[in-house]
Amino acid sequence: MCGIVGYIGKKQALPIIIEGIKRLEYRGYDSSGIAVINNDTELIIHKREGKIIDLERSIPNDKNFISHLGIAHTRWATHGQPTTTNAHPHTDCSGSIAVVHNGIIENYQVLRKSLEKRNHSFKSDTDTEVLAHLIEHFYQKTKNLHTSVRYSLRMVKGTFGITVISKDEPDKLIAARRGSPLIVGIGEGENFVASDATALVVHTKNVIYLQDNETVELTPNDFTIKTLADNEVEREISEIDWDISMVDKGEFDYFMLKEIFEQPTSIANAFRGRIMEQFNTSRLGGINPYIDKLKDIKQIYIIACGTSWHAALVGEYLLEDIAKIPVEVEYASEFRYRNPIINPDTLVIVISQSGETADTLAALREAKVRGAIVMGITNVIGSTIARETDFGSYIHAGAEIGVASTKAFTSQITVLFLFALLLGRMRNLSPSDGAKYIHELKTIPEKVQQILDCNEEIKRIAEQYKDVRNALYLGRGYNFPVALEGALKLKEISYIHAEGYPAAEMKHGPIALIDEDMPVLFIAPEDFVYDKILSNIEEVKARKGKIIAIANRDSGRIEKLVDHIIYIPRTIPSLTPILTVIPLQLLAYHVAVLRGCNVDQPRNLAKSVTVE
Ligand code: AGP
Repeated sequence: MCGIVGYIGKKQALPIIIEGIKRLEYRGYDSSGIAVINNDTELIIHKREGKIIDLERSIPNDKNFISHLGIAHTRWATHGQPTTTNAHPHTDCSGSIAVVHNGIIENYQVLRKSLEKRNHSFKSDTDTEVLAHLIEHFYQKTKNLHTSVRYSLRMVKGTFGITVISKDEPDKLIAARRGSPLIVGIGEGENFVASDATALVVHTKNVIYLQDNETVELTPNDFTIKTLADNEVEREISEIDWDISMVDKGEFDYFMLKEIFEQPTSIANAFRGRIMEQFNTSRLGGINPYIDKLKDIKQIYIIACGTSWHAALVGEYLLEDIAKIPVEVEYASEFRYRNPIINPDTLVIVISQSGETADTLAALREAKVRGAIVMGITNVIGSTIARETDFGSYIHAGAEIGVASTKAFTSQITVLFLFALLLGRMRNLSPSDGAKYIHELKTIPEKVQQILDCNEEIKRIAEQYKDVRNALYLGRGYNFPVALEGALKLKEISYIHAEGYPAAEMKHGPIALIDEDMPVLFIAPEDFVYDKILSNIEEVKARKGKIIAIANRDSGRIEKLVDHIIYIPRTIPSLTPILTVIPLQLLAYHVAVLRGCNVDQPRNLAKSVTVE
């Protein structure tokens, strides 16, 4: 996914659009660029491979860049290497029109061939450049930039979030979206466009969420929204409910560490106002229109990607254990092609932090085509997935900037826990059991804080394992998904190969990997499979494996078996994943920092994968 920012108004555009894409750098960071229309109505393009700071330092400090209209882009390459030539913005043949784009144009080769036959010459290997030439083609007929953009996008198959400027209309900024998020910021005598609210919340909290197949024409004091079919659209202005402090690192070195330490608060925010003590149950806004249908649900699918898929696996244990409803978890990318069985009493839950993940969005749409009721569990308000589900719950984790998801994971589990409690109490869960679940949930933020207080101890363990080449994460029951999540955290930010497995499964192959160079992390809270885990630890110890255990203070049995222990407070089995994942997040973070990795912007990754 890429970052897009556009500005038109009374202030200097350049510092605003540069600052804006810096706040979006987590979305993609292999190259970046800007385009401005200066006071001589010239279109000035400047772009660079590498980080945005490299772009910023290379911009000449001269009058050419004085402008009140500009667009900027930070790229996560999909088509074409991350080179300066392939960086956005892209221009038409005449050098009058500049375009930045997030998404994929699936029919760009066909369009490119057709344009080349009309003597358009291309400079880059990207799909995006096709848009600049298409708009040029239609502008020669319509002499209207907004119209030309609409006509061009009607020919596009695929996804786009774009902004367009032209020196022939230096008082207009055009934007459009299909499948890639775009937000319009409404200011005083100025207007903004961004692919993410974090780029514009410092300027305005008044926003409009563009919907698919809509375009907008912005001037400094006005905006006009039209569909690709030329129908004008009235859209109310919403207000962003968080402020810029949420997207500053503060005293932390990385956003990821800040977000790990925010978890006592973010977990509390996930259940705040959603507990009904007097009825020993929970309530989730937005569900009421479907509450009767939920009574009849006999099968649940939970669909997601990455860390959200790991949360979905925890959700499977929660919903079957507490609500006694059969659950199947599926990767979004697999669900949409496997011809799933969906009945009228099937509920599909899609989980997505960003609410923009292309595979999850496509799976959601497939589920709806098949008549399922679709519930969303997302974090970004107004995101595409949030808007396309039948109902849903926001996790209220606040902006998650670090590419490696942490607080979103624990908040997703919290919301799944609340939903399982709600469904359970609608079925056979007793008031007293409901009360016990609620009581324990309320203790979790403090218990998370107790684990965070062990950060230095975890850092010392990380120092001993920062140079390993492989690692194995093992857990059982509720903590098998945590083993997968812990392994993902390590590999995606430290680039150490790591695998998660159900602990018992180790005997069926992975045990061959065990030797003194292979650290094995056991997630071993004292629950109903604790004795089994201790046996698995013995099996690893017998083969000289180095063992790190995430465990409760027990009667001394585990201490003599392992090389390191990270203690966690006790809780009920269904809430252990929220506690056991914290040490694994911190361990991955410290190993990555010790290895000199860019924790917030790991190589090859982006915060939300809006391409398939
Ligand atoms: C998590 O650390 C990863 N960055 C990635 O797996 C992520 O969870 C996945 O891409 C899904 O994103 P979403 O929750 O925004 O849909």
